[in-house]
Amino acid sequence: MILIDGKKEAAEIREKLKKEVSQIKKEKNQVPGLTVILIGDLAPSQIYVRMKEKAAIEVGLKSEIIKYPDSIDEKSVLDKISELNKDNSVSGILVQLPLPKHIDKKKVIGTISPNKDVDGFHPHNVGNLSSGYESIVPCTPLGCYLLIKKYEKNLSGKKAVVIGRSNLNGKPMTQLLLKENCTVTITHSKTKDLKSECLKADIIVAAVGIPELVKGDWVKKDSIVIDVGINKTDKGIVGDVAFDEVSKVAKALTPVPGGVGPMTIACLLKNTINCFKKIYN
Ligand code: GUN
Repeated sequence: MILIDGKKEAAEIREKLKKEVSQIKKEKNQVPGLTVILIGDLAPSQIYVRMKEKAAIEVGLKSEIIKYPDSIDEKSVLDKISELNKDNSVSGILVQLPLPKHIDKKKVIGTISPNKDVDGFHPHNVGNLSSGYESIVPCTPLGCYLLIKKYEKNLSGKKAVVIGRSNLNGKPMTQLLLKENCTVTITHSKTKDLKSECLKADIIVAAVGIPELVKGDWVKKDSIVIDVGINKTDKGIVGDVAFDEVSKVAKALTPVPGGVGPMTIACLLKNTINCFKKIYN
């Protein structure tokens, strides 16, 4: 079994991006900037944002975190986003999710300029991706896609099963696999007999948030299994895939941690630099 090393792959991407940023600095005397808006004090969100900031600084990007208390009103957030949209020193804007209930996620995402939408969540980018046009691609599915392509160059005709239909992961993942001519089945909490769907798959992407849902006898021999899950349990952090069982069957599998997570962050940096280049040109 091949252990898909997302940590190593992400480090290689970051190394390339670091060189790219240094080249941009030299040629244009400018640095791409990532601004993250963090609302409230949810511990996981604070950890993710800190990790994003650290990675951004390491590749030489300008990084800014704007923190608001839970009680901030929606208008203030929307006004700040509009201000950032006009700010030439900001290449990418990310509003960390989830948001407090009184703030409308749709309005927030819709206010971010599609050209600075490093998450790829704005309806313009979602539409472009699903139409097969050039688009900013959400970071986690992009990271999964790059890992799959690393181990399987030709995906044409492969059967892929995506578990989870979220806008963050499942839906954009499906679009990326379709673009590669996979036959994609998108499954979710109401899917009947998920096991038999998984057993048909050459590629499984599990992004559903249920600890160790995908078992060893759900997986076809020689399949590629990508685990997007990060679930806190009594035995620590586990993915959506029962790692020990599945590793005995699959051809290749991502670990948790050290699989998809580092790729998400590397892809965020990549998207930020691409946004800078697009705006600059
Ligand atoms: N919360 C969990 N994952 C993500 C992500 O990819 N982007 C944003 N903005 N918030 C998240």
